[in-house]
Amino acid sequence: MLRAASSSARTASRALTTVTAERGIKVAVLGAAGGIGQPLSMLCKLSPLIDEVGCYDVVGTPGVAADLSHIPSKAKITGNLPSSGTWPPSGNKGLEAALTGADIVIIPAGVPRKPGMTRDDLFNTNAGIVKTLVEGCAKFCPNAVLGIISNPVNSTVPIAAEVLKKAGVYNPKKLLGVTTLDVCRANTFVAENQNMDVSKLNVPVIGGHAGITILPLLSQVPGAKFSDADREKLTVRIQFGGDEVVAAKAGSGSATLSMAYAGFLFTEGLIKGMKGEDVTMCAYVESTITEASFFASPVKFGPEGVKEVLGFGTLSAYEKVWFDKMIPDLKKQIAKGIEFANAKP
Ligand code: NAI
Repeated sequence: MLRAASSSARTASRALTTVTAERGIKVAVLGAAGGIGQPLSMLCKLSPLIDEVGCYDVVGTPGVAADLSHIPSKAKITGNLPSSGTWPPSGNKGLEAALTGADIVIIPAGVPRKPGMTRDDLFNTNAGIVKTLVEGCAKFCPNAVLGIISNPVNSTVPIAAEVLKKAGVYNPKKLLGVTTLDVCRANTFVAENQNMDVSKLNVPVIGGHAGITILPLLSQVPGAKFSDADREKLTVRIQFGGDEVVAAKAGSGSATLSMAYAGFLFTEGLIKGMKGEDVTMCAYVESTITEASFFASPVKFGPEGVKEVLGFGTLSAYEKVWFDKMIPDLKKQIAKGIEFANAKP
C-alpha cells in the first residue's frame, strides 16, 4: 500500500515535471529598460528555470534584448516597445507580444523616489502606469501570475486587483506585491548585528512595503538576542532601508540592483512553487489574517501562485505596538488604490 502510494506520488511528480518542461516558462518584465528592469531581465535570462523573457518598456527594450541575447543561456529574449521596433525584428509588437503566453509578469515600471520623497509621493504617476499595464495583462495573459514592484506597492496591488476584477479575470492567488527586498534587508542587517550566517536567515517581514507598514519580526529569528536599543535600531533601519539608497544615489533613483536580485528571488520562488516545490516567501497579497484586505505575510507558493496565505505567529509586545500603528496607515493606502481604480475617467 505504502509502496503503491509513493510510486504514484513519483509518477505524479514526473508528470508535473514533464508538463512544465514541455510548456516552458515565460516571464514578462514590464519596465524592462529601467534601473530594476535591466538587471532583473538579465537575471531571468541567466536562469535555467526560464525559457523565455519578454521585455517591455516605453523606451529601450530592443537594445536591452539584443544585448542580453548574446549571453549563452537557454532563455529566448524579446524586446518590445508600445508601437514600433522590436528585437528581434518581427511583425509582433508591443505589450501584446511581451505578454502573450506569459506565465509570470513582473512589473517594475514607473518612476522611483528622489531624496525626501515617500513611496506615496509616486502615486500620481505610477498608479496610472500600473493600471494601464494590468489592463494589458487582463487582455493578453489573463492566467499569468503578476508580481508588482512599482511603488507604492501598498496601493498599486489593490489597483491591479480592481482592474482585474473589472475585466472579470481576478484570481487573488495570482496577484502579489513584491516585498522580498524587505526580507533581504532584514536578513543582511540582522546577520551583521548578530554575527550570524546570512545564508541561513529568513526573517519574516509582514505588513506592507512603505515606512512603518514594514514590520520585521525580529522576535522570530531563531537563536537571536537583541538589546532593546538594537531591536529598535534594526526595526527602523529595515523599515527605512530604502531611504539609505535613495540618499546615497542623491537624486538618481532608488534601489535597483538589490531590488533586481530580490525580484529575481521572488520570480524563481514562484516558478519553483509552480513546479511543485515547497516554497514559502513573504509577499503582499489579498488576505483575511488582519483587518487590512491586503497584507504581507509568509505565503506558500503553488501551481497557481499563492497556495496558502500563512499567519505570522505571535507578536512580541514591541512588535504589537508597531502593528497597531501600521494597520490604519495600510488600510488608508489600500483604500486610496481602490478609489483610484474605480474613479470615473
Ligand atoms: P526607472 O525609472 O529606472 O525605471 C522605470 C522604467 O519604467 C523606465 O525604463 C520607464 O521607461 C518605464 N516605464 C515608465 N512608464 C512605463 C509604461 N507605461 N510602460 C512600460 N514601462 C514604463 O525606475 P526603477 O528604479 O527601475 O524603479 C521602478 C519602480 O520600482 C519604482 O516605482 C520604484 O519605486 C519601485 N521599487 C520598488 C521596490 C520594491 O521593493 N517593491 C524597491 C525599489 C524600487
